[in-house]
Amino acid sequence: MKAIKVGLLGIGTVGSGTFNVLRRNQEEIRGRAGRGIEIAMVADLDVARAKGIVGDSVEVVDDARKVIANPEIDIVIELIGGYGVAKALVLEAIAAGKHVVTANKALLAVHGTEIFAAAHAKGVIVAFEAAVAGGIPIIKALREGLTANRIEWIAGIINGTTNFILSEMRSKGLDFGVVLKEAQRLGYAEADPTFDIEGVDAAHKATIMSAIAFGISVQFDKAHVEGITKLQAADIKYAEQLGYRIKLLGITRRRDNGIELRVHPTLIPTNRLIANVEGAMNAVVVQGDAVGSTLYYGKGAGSEPTASAVIADLVDITRLHTADPEHRVPHLAFRPDAMSDTPILSMDEVQTAFYLRLCVADQAGVLSSITTILAENDISIDAVLQRESAEGEKQTDLIILTHDTVEGRMNKALAQMQALTTVLAPIVRIRKEELA
Ligand code: HSE
Repeated sequence: MKAIKVGLLGIGTVGSGTFNVLRRNQEEIRGRAGRGIEIAMVADLDVARAKGIVGDSVEVVDDARKVIANPEIDIVIELIGGYGVAKALVLEAIAAGKHVVTANKALLAVHGTEIFAAAHAKGVIVAFEAAVAGGIPIIKALREGLTANRIEWIAGIINGTTNFILSEMRSKGLDFGVVLKEAQRLGYAEADPTFDIEGVDAAHKATIMSAIAFGISVQFDKAHVEGITKLQAADIKYAEQLGYRIKLLGITRRRDNGIELRVHPTLIPTNRLIANVEGAMNAVVVQGDAVGSTLYYGKGAGSEPTASAVIADLVDITRLHTADPEHRVPHLAFRPDAMSDTPILSMDEVQTAFYLRLCVADQAGVLSSITTILAENDISIDAVLQRESAEGEKQTDLIILTHDTVEGRMNKALAQMQALTTVLAPIVRIRKEELA
């Protein structure tokens, strides 16, 4: 059977990895897919650089619309990124009857509902394994491998840049700003790292996983997004003393009244496997009612790891594109008529435990006034640590770990504690998850 023809929009790091792996492993991939998969056309604004990667045998153009208009092309890979031109091109490719493979988490998290509806109406596939956790086949696991389960929660380290920064802060005792500069020098962090360090990239990925896990539409606008820029080395150290590591987690969890969807720095017990995922690696824990806890670990970015996910989608489409669309795996795991309208909860309704650091006057009655406020708000304390004051020092750090509570209740207690004259600085509050 003749090879299926693929058009590639954007040949940067992931595009060149895709081209190289497809060529290197073509025999194995053909054996698995049932026919060859050939990148027949590439669109990139830098034609000369693109030609340098793919050689003379592949047509290179500077206009993505020429790829979409080519009737020979069955699958379009979108590796441009962002919400602007990428959105228009994906919708045009769908309208032209092409299947689409994309690594674009931002696009799907924000415009996924529109894109999947267009694909469904046209009977084409939009595949996006590379959009979440790079080379880790987490979309495949959630949509297919765990299909028997009622998913209870997902917690993931799904941004390598921030995990690298947190690992360096912990192991070297350095502050955020210092490590960020080093990460940029080493190429782990982009020149403009905003999406990574502010938690936006992780929230895009968490939004996509949440939709697949719970059969809800993609709703990035409802996600709580908090990055690592305010994290201080002192809190990483105190957490360590109490048996916890701080990780930037993407968390989505089913509750009786709705679904939690949040990204924020989180204390996790050091003895959990995911707490020991270091450097730029990614890991996702999925808790299902039948399977229990499963952990997926690997590279979340990079040329060939991400290409591995892109090509897995190409193989899936090659196998499935002649099947009746009704018999394909639905884009978000649930059939469109079986999607749920379960709401995403506001942060006030989220249930979690907390780490608090209070800079307090070192005098009689301070601890008791603070614990009284927590008790009056029905917040139970799990552990307390007080830094020993130096000779003559009039203030100290008081660290409190709480049991699970409702965040709205904690906000009320925090306002009351902050108003005490013996609390001398803004209280640091970091959420804590046992992930048991
Ligand atoms: N910038 C992301 C990360 C990789 O640092 O993990 C692409 O999503």
